[in-house]
Amino acid sequence: MVNNLPEKISKLKEKRNAVILAHNYQRPEVQMVADYLGDSLDLARLSAELDADLVVFAGVNFMAEMAAILDPDKRVVIPDRGARCPMASQLPASTVRRERKEHPSAAVVLYVNTLAEAKAEADVVCTSANAPQIVNFLSEEEILFGPDRNLAWFVQRRSDKRIVPIPANGHCYVHKMFSPEDIRLLRERYPDAEVLVHPECDPEVQMLADHICSTSQMMLRAKASPARQFIIGTEIGLVERLRREIPDKEFIPALNSAVCKDMKKHTLEKVYVALRDKKYVVRVSPKVAERALEAVQRMLKISGRGTSD
Ligand code: 13P
Ligand code: SF4
Repeated sequence: MVNNLPEKISKLKEKRNAVILAHNYQRPEVQMVADYLGDSLDLARLSAELDADLVVFAGVNFMAEMAAILDPDKRVVIPDRGARCPMASQLPASTVRRERKEHPSAAVVLYVNTLAEAKAEADVVCTSANAPQIVNFLSEEEILFGPDRNLAWFVQRRSDKRIVPIPANGHCYVHKMFSPEDIRLLRERYPDAEVLVHPECDPEVQMLADHICSTSQMMLRAKASPARQFIIGTEIGLVERLRREIPDKEFIPALNSAVCKDMKKHTLEKVYVALRDKKYVVRVSPKVAERALEAVQRMLKISGRGTSD
């Protein structure tokens, strides 16, 4: 165990001209050493603009891949290469190709929680912060949307287009843990609390929420809202950030056990080693990266046009 890690990380960062990007679900001690902390959309936007020689990405595989795709000249490293979002593996590129053949007039919109090979088959990608905005911008009436079925449901409620989930049952095991009973009980206990849930939650849970939004949108809502108490239906790392940054309000996790095991694989020590040894390098084949980049850039362009949903 290395002592004074935050200090050592800060010195190494300067020496390497490095930047640490971290997702809102990271352990609090990793969040604290990050230069930027955000949701998938924030981190994608930042990755496209960074001026650094090395990017340490404390997030899951698809997020680090996206940073590498957005700036192929930059070295992107991930502290634990086993940090892999299981949902992203639920939609192989071959399934996207097959579905496209079966629905030739549909547009393919893929959630960022996909691997680069799948993104390379998409017309455009989206995040939980902008999915309805992206879908409604397109001219096609039929949209193949994947891999999260619950996000597809959320989009369908905000669009007149026909949304076809691919695969039929893509999901996040963490957000599947929330139940409508939990939310109802918490509402009874905290009648003045505002309920914020992520669109990866089941429809029955979404229907009980006051706001359904991405993790960074939850931060913004909690700051802007007149409410003093909030019930939070997403991974526990965000609750830790909310409590730290908004200490005068109360945040009640809808479920204490909502922990993404893969996000938590990055530790402070691994972040230090990643900086020191410049590992583990995230590689995407140039051919795949080029095609995936088009779909990601299209999202950033559309998303920049108006407020995210
Ligand atoms: P956000 O983009 O809202 O941070 O969500 C990413 C994610 O993986 C949710 O499980
Ligand atoms: Fe993937 Fe769910 Fe973890 Fe998000 S919370 S990274 S969707 S497994």
